[in-house]
Amino acid sequence: MNKKITILGIESSCDETAVSVVQEENGKIKILSNIVSSQFDIHKEFGGVVPELAARAHAEKIDLIAEKAISESNINLNNLDAVAATAGPGLIVCLTVGLNFGKTIAASLNKPFIAVNHLEGHALSPKLNNNLEYPYLLLLISGGHTQYLSVESLGNYKRLGTTIDDALGEAFDKTAKIIGIEFPGGPKIEEYAKKGDSNRFNLPKPILNRGGCNLSFAGLKTAILRIQSEIKTEQDKYDLAASFQKTIEEILYKKTKKAFEIYLEKNKNLKKTFVVAGGVAANKGIRDKLTKLSEENKFELLFPNIYLCSDNAAMIALVGLEKYKKKIFNDLNFKVNPRWQLDEEANFLKGAGVKI
Ligand SMILES: Nc1ncnc2c1ncn2[C@@H]1O[C@H](COP(=O)(O)OP(=O)(O)OP(=O)(O)O)[C@@H](O)[C@H]1O
Ligand SMILES: [Mg+2]
Repeated sequence: MNKKITILGIESSCDETAVSVVQEENGKIKILSNIVSSQFDIHKEFGGVVPELAARAHAEKIDLIAEKAISESNINLNNLDAVAATAGPGLIVCLTVGLNFGKTIAASLNKPFIAVNHLEGHALSPKLNNNLEYPYLLLLISGGHTQYLSVESLGNYKRLGTTIDDALGEAFDKTAKIIGIEFPGGPKIEEYAKKGDSNRFNLPKPILNRGGCNLSFAGLKTAILRIQSEIKTEQDKYDLAASFQKTIEEILYKKTKKAFEIYLEKNKNLKKTFVVAGGVAANKGIRDKLTKLSEENKFELLFPNIYLCSDNAAMIALVGLEKYKKKIFNDLNFKVNPRWQLDEEANFLKGAGVKI
């Protein structure tokens, strides 16, 4: 029988309002529509996301974005099998908009509702363009998170390592801000780095040789603040961006090598699959470095498509699809969970005084 499963996905956890329709037919996953509306212009003058402004923009736009996604997908709303919406982690006022919108559509169509962990969306995103099977090792590098996780099955995550301070995307954005690159600076650091001398500035690599595959980036920001007064010309900015990019690549190379060892420690016979996902996974230099490392260690490396690295609703619909197949549905009184983690058992490892 030609069985199709069609899911509407909704994402509003931070500064992207996104709606997508994803369909699986005979085991093949297709993105029928994927509309993302970014709020860069709204937050630019503040140099970062302002939660109340973001929430207002989500509320103003979400119905239009949904209309566009549904019309582009050419589906009839009654043919949807379920509605999936991000319930966390993220900004509470932003999450509330998308979650309530999703619940309302599900209720009005009398379809199952599925609450999705945004990070699980990133974790599964390579499945939209690859054959991805459990288990695998995940490096999640996004604006709010930096973690190595053993992904054992849907919803079953064991954290192997995490940042003890800033997330990697945050480190990119803060570095950009310090040297005067307009928000959102992360992707621009990569462009600037191409024109610079990566050996000009010697930046620290905190906890490189200790702490297992835990990571730390706050020391880089402090070091960059110290040399900020030396950054005067465009060439200085290029050189600093190149030095920063190189330092990050070296940290990730070393820490990922450690994560490979830890991942295989309990079971040497595990299939060696490695996934890198989240906004920073769009960075070409990081992709190349981790590709080299994976080849050296015989891991198969999978990335999401570049356009699916940063926030989108196709990845949310995909998690919805996987949960739908297992009949994992949620009540309409499911609450937003701004701190929802993938491994809820993992120890809290952040802030001053952390011993690793
Ligand atoms: N090419 C790139 N190089 C480096 N960083 C990048 C690049 N492209 C995007 N980023 C960074 O990725 C981050 C955005 O990723 P993402 O949308 O996954 O984060 P988020 O949703 O805000 O956080 P989270 O997913 O942890 O809740 C930003 O910090 C941005 O600067
Ligand atoms: Mg994200």
